[in-house]
Amino acid sequence: MERTFSIVKPDGVQKNIIGEVVSRYEKAGYRVAGIKMAHLTKAQAEGFYAVHAKRPFFGELVNFMISGPLVLLLIEGEGAIKGVRELMGATDPKDADEGTIRKDFADSIESNIVHGSDAPETAAFEIAYFFNALEQF
Ligand code: CMP
Repeated sequence: MERTFSIVKPDGVQKNIIGEVVSRYEKAGYRVAGIKMAHLTKAQAEGFYAVHAKRPFFGELVNFMISGPLVLLLIEGEGAIKGVRELMGATDPKDADEGTIRKDFADSIESNIVHGSDAPETAAFEIAYFFNALEQF
């Protein structure tokens, strides 16, 4: 059993597709092991995306992520890290495969509806960043 971390970003919440995203994960066989809504502070978003701090898009990324509430998800299942990323589709919706979340709903590489951990190490960091032991089921 593997655990990964996912976010329904502010654009996904705005588009009223929280349930759609969660449903796609569940229908693919994954289980919600933690879920909560949050409106991140600038410091929280900067800390979360610290690996991207030197990228030219960092400022815009942080501003986008604090532009409204989002949904934090702890997802569990066999091969969850890779599986959730496959359901999400490529970072840029222009490159995303048919039937993926980003192909169906995302407007741009920045407003791309969802985030998902890309490796076991990042999943461990990201889960611990947002979910304490009492919030994991
Ligand atoms: P995410 O998986 O949340 O991780 C970093 C995010 O940066 C990524 O999704 C994109 O939404 C965002 N981003 C914005 N601009 C770019 C870019 N030019 N290249 C890669 N990621 C970008």
